[in-house]
Amino acid sequence: MQTAAEPNAKPAPAATAAPLLAVRNIEVVYDNVILVLRGLSMDVPKGAIVALLGANGAGKSTTLKAISGLLKTEDGEVTRGEIVFDGERIDGIDPDKIVRRGIFQVMEGRRIIADMTALENLRLGAYTRSDKNVDDDIDMVYKYFPRLKERTGLAGYLSGGEQQMLAIGRAMMARPKMILMDEPSMGLSPLLVKEVFGIIKQINRDLGVTILLVEQNARAALSVASHGYIMEQGKVVLDGTAAELRDNEDVKEFYLGGAGDQRKSFKNLKSFKRRKRWL
Ligand SMILES: Nc1ncnc2c1ncn2[C@@H]1O[C@H](COP(=O)(O)OP(=O)(O)OP(=O)(O)O)[C@@H](O)[C@H]1O
Ligand SMILES: [Mg+2]
Repeated sequence: MQTAAEPNAKPAPAATAAPLLAVRNIEVVYDNVILVLRGLSMDVPKGAIVALLGANGAGKSTTLKAISGLLKTEDGEVTRGEIVFDGERIDGIDPDKIVRRGIFQVMEGRRIIADMTALENLRLGAYTRSDKNVDDDIDMVYKYFPRLKERTGLAGYLSGGEQQMLAIGRAMMARPKMILMDEPSMGLSPLLVKEVFGIIKQINRDLGVTILLVEQNARAALSVASHGYIMEQGKVVLDGTAAELRDNEDVKEFYLGGAGDQRKSFKNLKSFKRRKRWL
């Protein structure tokens, strides 16, 4: 702990360092009329994994698209507030410029290019790069996801888990400072969720890439994140360290419903879904 009485004490970096990404009180409107984000704020520290959780329709994907600039492709707009990345405003900037600044979004539902091979998809991830290390990075991606190397056919025929791995690999090929991931667990078996999240953690550690992780699977997300935000109806309603959120009674009830045990969680799933509608 730092005290004012120590003349040579250096401030704790976590307390003073500006976050890599700061979202300040943003409002997002689709089609000029549909207000979806209503004053949302969040910080993502450099090198961290931060989880953004919430029920269907809360505005999680919209938040990621506001950051990556992809809102523009859906007639959405940040109408208030600001988004600051690495010290500079990025709200309103075109998505390809945001990629060049170092943010890469892995879209919901994977969105790999089905009629290209896995390798071609990976090369595509490096489209903004002019350096000569692309082949080395393909080897690096194969190191994390060895099974992608064995798949030489069209990416559309990859399994769901392999497509998710390819989508993450493609993001790594851009050598971004930050990756935005929209529901990487979607459609994966519990075993694959564990595998993919293990690799997400590893990539974060090895490459120092900062990750903002949107998830419905709060348990998986909070197992790798250091901090989490919970949003409802376009706003953050709760935030804290991953440990604080895991211990929070409301979070337990609404987002961690169902223990690890399969039968139990299946039984709880119905009531979990029913409850979520009332949020
Ligand atoms: N392109 C769009 N045009 C108009 N409304 C949209 C558009 N995209 C999303 N919305 C609306 O914005 C709200 C938030 O959607 P969003 O996709 O951000 O939620 P989400 O939290 O990601 O939900 P889910 O968990 O289901 O993916 C929803 O009410 C949705 O109908
Ligand atoms: Mg979504």
